[in-house]
Amino acid sequence: MKVTGPRLVVLPEPGAVADEAARVLLDSVGEARAAGRTPVVGVATGSTPQPLYARVAEAVATGAADLADVWAVALDEYVGLAADDPRRYRAELLRTVVGPWGLDPGRLLVPDADAPEPDVAGAAYDARIAALGGVDVQVLGIGRNGHLGFNEPGADAGRGTHRVRLAESTREANAAHFPDPRDVPREALTQGLATILRARRLLLVATSEAKAPALAAALRGPVHPDCPASVLQQHPDVLVVADEAAAGLLR
Ligand code: GLP
Repeated sequence: MKVTGPRLVVLPEPGAVADEAARVLLDSVGEARAAGRTPVVGVATGSTPQPLYARVAEAVATGAADLADVWAVALDEYVGLAADDPRRYRAELLRTVVGPWGLDPGRLLVPDADAPEPDVAGAAYDARIAALGGVDVQVLGIGRNGHLGFNEPGADAGRGTHRVRLAESTREANAAHFPDPRDVPREALTQGLATILRARRLLLVATSEAKAPALAAALRGPVHPDCPASVLQQHPDVLVVADEAAAGLLR
């Protein structure tokens, strides 16, 4: 397949980004069904995709969409949180995706961050995704340091799901969700860049000026481990939907 590079849609504000991204997500689900597959949607956590998830939920609530057959696949999970900690990404995705979209909770896959052997758990996760037929559309956010999932700068683009140490800047960025910044986990299990690149379509959403440097490095800089998201340039079907603030350094 010819690689043409990421397509970019710039919209005035985050609400328009959510509308466009929800349309693409639901189209991707329809394409999977038309091809005879059970749709598999990769879901990121973080604040950026929340308006998109809300738009999809509205489509389900009004009857415009029915996602009962959809599997949801998480990008990553913190290591070291208690089983019932609401900040686990499994818990967050149950609240923000599975419930509002009317999915079967048994159809949410999250990396097993409690596994004694992370490498085994990572390989098992990738095998489960493959057994489902692969991800049809993977929603992605981007970290301020250019991370995808929890693939921090320096990540090996050839790796599948694996355990990582979080960058201090990532721990600071995520500290708002924890009463004490020292409580932010130091490790996570993340889909590797190789796992992410196996999805049929990647849908990156980026809003706010804070993401502008990372987005510019990802799309206009060299493909280099310093900016993990630069691997997007190597995938044949990437759509980046950004607001004007996030796209501010792209022109
Ligand atoms: C988090 C997640 C990423 C997410 C990123 C940006 O730590 N692991 O999947 O894309 O950081 O989050 P936000 O959208 O809140 O800026």
